[in-house]
Amino acid sequence: MLDSVLLWIEKNRSLWLQDLKAWLAIPSVSAKPEHDADIQAAAQWAAYYLRGAGMDATLVKTARHPCVLATTPDGLCPPDAPHILFYGHYDVQPAEPLQLWTSPPFTATVRNGKLFARGASDDKGQAFCHLAALAAWKQIAYELPVRLSVLLEGEEEIGSPNLRAVIAENADRLASARTLIISDSSQFAPGVPAITTGLRGLVYYELTVTGANTDLHSGIYGGAVANPANALSHILGQLHDARGRVTIPGFYDDVRLPEPELRAMWKSLPFDESSLVKELGVPELFGEAGFTTLERRWCRPTLDINGLTSGYQGAGAKTVLPATASAKLSMRLVPDQDAIAIAEAFEKHIRHLAPAGVTITLERLSASPAALTPANSPAIAAAVEACEEGMGKKPVFVREGGSIPVVTWFKEMLGIDSVLLGFGLPDDNLHAPNEKLDLDCFYAGIRTAAALYDRLGKMK
Ligand code: BES
Ligand code: MN
Ligand code: MN
Repeated sequence: MLDSVLLWIEKNRSLWLQDLKAWLAIPSVSAKPEHDADIQAAAQWAAYYLRGAGMDATLVKTARHPCVLATTPDGLCPPDAPHILFYGHYDVQPAEPLQLWTSPPFTATVRNGKLFARGASDDKGQAFCHLAALAAWKQIAYELPVRLSVLLEGEEEIGSPNLRAVIAENADRLASARTLIISDSSQFAPGVPAITTGLRGLVYYELTVTGANTDLHSGIYGGAVANPANALSHILGQLHDARGRVTIPGFYDDVRLPEPELRAMWKSLPFDESSLVKELGVPELFGEAGFTTLERRWCRPTLDINGLTSGYQGAGAKTVLPATASAKLSMRLVPDQDAIAIAEAFEKHIRHLAPAGVTITLERLSASPAALTPANSPAIAAAVEACEEGMGKKPVFVREGGSIPVVTWFKEMLGIDSVLLGFGLPDDNLHAPNEKLDLDCFYAGIRTAAALYDRLGKMK
């Protein structure tokens, strides 16, 4: 039956592309209140599509953006089919800066075999591969090979503030799932499919430094009143030592290095530093001594400034002591760092570094630990076979530097392990201008998803 489904998928390439373009046209930017109606529309679109594949789909309200929850009605799968959960997110990052896009971010456009749009890869395009695979199974086989539950979130890009509540409320329905499938990572390289077995955690802060209750003339008051921009620079400048290591006391205490065999395996992956240097346009790569680039990204923790704001930003000179200065800061965590302990150590360190004469406020926006997933399980074996079927190659086993906090939550709350099988490529420009998904990856993703559910349905 899978062969007929795969044939149908191939024959209907233009249909899948048209459907995905329609979903991408809805600007489901979760961060911005002016897009709340678009978020609703994108959720409705997905529910409608899932109903077309025979599933029972509803919107689950949350304090902010809804989830789409779909289940397989009796009769749409064999009675003894294993219960599988698929998670994806239909929200996207803001598209700004708009002037750097070659084509408009919410008018999905094909150029050189690539589909350009915000969400093309992260994550609508990859999630849609699964929706299309289900539609194909329903169309050709009149049933799905597994009892599938689909959970699509609308708040992933803003840190999933309400997802734990949705999981808890639906725990009775979801807990019987054998495994969680997520396609929100990437292949290792073109033609090198990958199963991701680890993600970094994320602690995110906004740090605000406040001085006087108004901007001040920098001649009249300079030297007599603390300058928040100077104070912030002073703090930020001390967060790394001369070797680039994070100075928060205890930051590295719980870091567990991967086994030597795993590090040796990573060294054998087809990774070319010089082509990355060229692709990124940097003079050279940068990072902690003693670790390879992949290790720096996959198993070493970081602290990075993500945003920095203070003072006069317009043309020419304006002599002013800004009243405030702020920075957005992320820490990427690795096993076995404790997210809350790191967050608390960070706050203590910042307060310790702060100079006199200013007020510090710290707002914690995320705190989630790194996640490791099994590299050996019946579900992983099914995913390996699906890659061979859908992409023509066995996958390599990698980790990723990005974060998907839900992986930890499903494990902690329901005891379910994840299979992270991404279809995109490392150069998809996630969160950046000109985000894209190669059409080859898109169609291979639909085939792979169709094959995955076939194999999961046969899982012992
Ligand atoms: N899909 C990404 C995470 C990702 C990217 C995993 C590349 C593996 C490879 C996800 O949508 C994302 O952007 N996550 C955020 C964290 C979230 C809490 C906002 C991230 O990693 O910054
Ligand atoms: Mn994503
Ligand atoms: Mn993202």
